[in-house]
Amino acid sequence: MLILNLLILAPLLGMNSLTHAFPLNAVTKRNKWPEGSCVVDVKVEQCNDFDCKMDGYHRIDTFLTQREHADSWNYLFYKTEDEISERCITRIKVVEEDGSKPDGDGWDRIKANGGPQIYAQRDTAQQVKGKVVDLVVLRPGRWANSTENFTRESINLGLGEKAGDVAEEDWREWHAVSSGWVWLEYTLGGPRDPITQVQVVACPADTDATQCGSDLLSQGFKRRDTDLNGPTENGSHVFLFTSSEPVAEGDTSCVGGLKVVKTADEGDESILPVDLNDGTNGTSLYLSVIRSSGKVPGSCLTSIVPLDTSRYFPRAHYTPVLLEDGSGSGAPASLNAGIASADPIYLYTSTEEDFRAIHKKNQGVNLSFNSTGGFRIALYSDLHHSSYAPSCRDIPDAIKHTCSEEFSIDLMAASLDLTKPDLVVIDGDLFAENDRASDEVTYPLLTDAAMAKAIHPILERGLPFAVTWGNHDAEGSLLREELQRAMDIQPGFLGSRGLNHLDGIGNYKLDILASADSGEKKHSLWFFDSRSYTYLAENGTASGNYGMVEQSQVDWYAANADNSVNALAFFHIPLGQISDRVGLNTTAITGVHGESVCPQGNGCDDEVNLETPHVPLFDAFIKAGDVRATFSGHDHANDYVIDAQGIKMTYDGSAGYTAYSAGDQNYNREMRVIDITQWGSTASSYKIIDDILQGTVHRNESEPIVTLY
Ligand SMILES: *[C@@H]1O[C@H](CO)[C@@H](O)[C@H](O)[C@H]1NC(C)=O
Ligand SMILES: *[C@@H]1O[C@H](CO)[C@@H](O)[C@H](O)[C@H]1NC(C)=O
Ligand SMILES: *[C@@H]1O[C@H](CO)[C@@H](O)[C@H](O)[C@H]1NC(C)=O
Ligand SMILES: *[C@@H]1O[C@H](CO)[C@@H](O)[C@H](O)[C@H]1NC(C)=O
Ligand SMILES: *[C@@H]1O[C@H](CO)[C@@H](O)[C@H](O)[C@H]1NC(C)=O
Ligand SMILES: *[C@@H]1O[C@H](CO)[C@@H](O)[C@H](O)[C@H]1NC(C)=O
Ligand SMILES: *[C@@H]1O[C@H](CO)[C@@H](O)[C@H](O)[C@H]1NC(C)=O
Ligand SMILES: *[C@@H]1O[C@H](CO)[C@@H](O)[C@H](O)[C@H]1NC(C)=O
Ligand SMILES: *[C@@H]1O[C@H](CO)[C@@H](O)[C@H](O)[C@H]1NC(C)=O
Repeated sequence: MLILNLLILAPLLGMNSLTHAFPLNAVTKRNKWPEGSCVVDVKVEQCNDFDCKMDGYHRIDTFLTQREHADSWNYLFYKTEDEISERCITRIKVVEEDGSKPDGDGWDRIKANGGPQIYAQRDTAQQVKGKVVDLVVLRPGRWANSTENFTRESINLGLGEKAGDVAEEDWREWHAVSSGWVWLEYTLGGPRDPITQVQVVACPADTDATQCGSDLLSQGFKRRDTDLNGPTENGSHVFLFTSSEPVAEGDTSCVGGLKVVKTADEGDESILPVDLNDGTNGTSLYLSVIRSSGKVPGSCLTSIVPLDTSRYFPRAHYTPVLLEDGSGSGAPASLNAGIASADPIYLYTSTEEDFRAIHKKNQGVNLSFNSTGGFRIALYSDLHHSSYAPSCRDIPDAIKHTCSEEFSIDLMAASLDLTKPDLVVIDGDLFAENDRASDEVTYPLLTDAAMAKAIHPILERGLPFAVTWGNHDAEGSLLREELQRAMDIQPGFLGSRGLNHLDGIGNYKLDILASADSGEKKHSLWFFDSRSYTYLAENGTASGNYGMVEQSQVDWYAANADNSVNALAFFHIPLGQISDRVGLNTTAITGVHGESVCPQGNGCDDEVNLETPHVPLFDAFIKAGDVRATFSGHDHANDYVIDAQGIKMTYDGSAGYTAYSAGDQNYNREMRVIDITQWGSTASSYKIIDDILQGTVHRNESEPIVTLY
């Protein structure tokens, strides 16, 4: 490992003398929304291996260069603190290698090894308002230019054209990075800014969609990367741009709402004169922008999201944009109306108040045992929802022509009604990039839409829920960080991002109390991010092995484990100890072993080598002694339980009809029930199968109920 200037950080900041001048009482206690803390330092460092680390810093796993194209690699590291102070960065700028310091006060250059230079600004006025950088991400790929919550720096940190011949241009990280384009983006804490301007731009079908409307970006507009006219054959590229800059100096008005209309009346300036179906023979549609004085709280839009489904949003915080056609029907406007070959796209809006109300309500929920000391968890895994309409896989012939992802939604709905849980857990791979049923073409996954499908039955029933992320979840339009944020404001979601400096997103613990207002902890539930994949230490190429829970996460667990109560642990990719071939205990299996185990840090092989690589989580469980059972998905055709040194290692069973299953075409999708009883001192589990040919959802009676502890 070759890290330059590792320990010269404190003098760089030069802040000590300011500590007392800062108006501490105004902001020391951070508003806990949105989740996360403030970024106090960003560094690009050269590494000569792919495991390089910097003490106290979080490493972004996207590398800035790759060995086949360069003789060194750079990683971006950032450091966070929980409290807002004068150390918090309020703006970031990337300038060319020979570029000069940005205009304005308070800019410090961040050390970088050649190439583009990074500057950070610390502006007290912004710090006092809580407008501090709370998240830094690297967004790979030429496409995906800018997303609504993120400010993108317009200089590529990757190798660009020098990356060589990269045919693959994709939303998926592992392809996109090799394209040589990696952008630094960041978000600010505090309330989101009201949208003050909306623009729609259409560009001819034969032009480069990534360039469509790019002149607006220099005027401070942000673009949503969903083509509002797509995917359609021959249609123009149509993109939505929003800005939060005031229309005129001192103007506090904002965009209060949107409508879709069928004619562009030239006298009506509120209607944007660009046909949303430009270049097709579909219905002409125009966006009408309703202005608000901005004086009434909640009257400004802060978010506009294009989605490809209208069915799944009634309980979420989104409001659909309606079609005003004079009929008074008030139906959500399908932006691809009249184009037979296209899937519909709808626009949804929300305000800051919508988000805050939900987030506040979620934070007030305490999990607790019922009056007889019981607590029930309904557990699902591997739903593999996507946008558009993906094909079902490995299903009986009898349902070949009717099966769709609605089957997964129905399974969840029926089993929730049957089991009436106190908490729902989805244990990873909620989404995946699937083939579309009609033509087997893979379209980019619009993750907001897939998310709405995955949690629809839960929101409909108003249940609290928790989630872990799997290896497929970040294949779509949202990075892992964004997934967490988008989930954070779903009604009933109790999970959280976890500490910034840990590996992975979504490491958290939920306690089950004796009663809701007792504050008395009786049982704990741990959630870990087992991440996606691992990369070869020699050259950073994908190793073919799955991700794992890293030492930083294990250290956090070990520091917080409390063996005075029992606990369960949830993570998408199983630990190698779940294999019945590693010699720990082969006697306790219940359920089906239908495919090889594909555990953390490894490929797929039942003969797991537990030492190479050594995954530290299992040993930490044994040492701390609180975790009595673990739950994982990932291997869809396995649904067994094994006892490994006293810990019941459990497969969730797969609930997704659009995910692969066992070769046996009659294999049933299923979910798992966990009953914690006697105020946390005992627990048991069983599976509920979706007997699709009989049309019933019931317990698999040929298996005993497993005693977990
Ligand atoms: C996309 O981003 C790059 C880098 O910021 C910029 O050069 C290009 O103009 C952008 N294109 C569009 C259409 O936003
Ligand atoms: C798209 O254009 C091609 C070439 O003009 C034409 O053959 C095809 O029918 C068009 N498709 C649609 C959906 O209009
Ligand atoms: C639009 O064009 C497509 C492809 O040519 C055709 O199938 C469809 O019938 C046309 N729709 C209308 C309303 O003309
Ligand atoms: C308490 O929870 C257990 C486990 O879910 C359940 O069997 C029992 O009926 C519940 N008791 C009450 C009073 O709701
Ligand atoms: C922007 O933030 C909101 C609220 O946190 C979230 O729902 C939405 O998904 C975010 N959008 C993106 C593109 O990350
Ligand atoms: C949840 O627990 C907190 C802390 O013990 C308490 O202040 C709050 O009132 C509880 N909420 C409910 C709904 O009981
Ligand atoms: C990376 O290293 C592995 C193992 O040494 C090797 O098989 C592979 O070809 C290398 N890939 C590149 C792109 O250098
Ligand atoms: C029910 O459980 C038995 C025993 O584990 C198993 O063989 C069978 O395949 C299961 N049935 C279904 C439909 O999953
Ligand atoms: C093996 O499993 C049995 C049944 O659960 C259990 O009693 C025993 O302690 C386990 N042995 C080991 C070495 O884990």
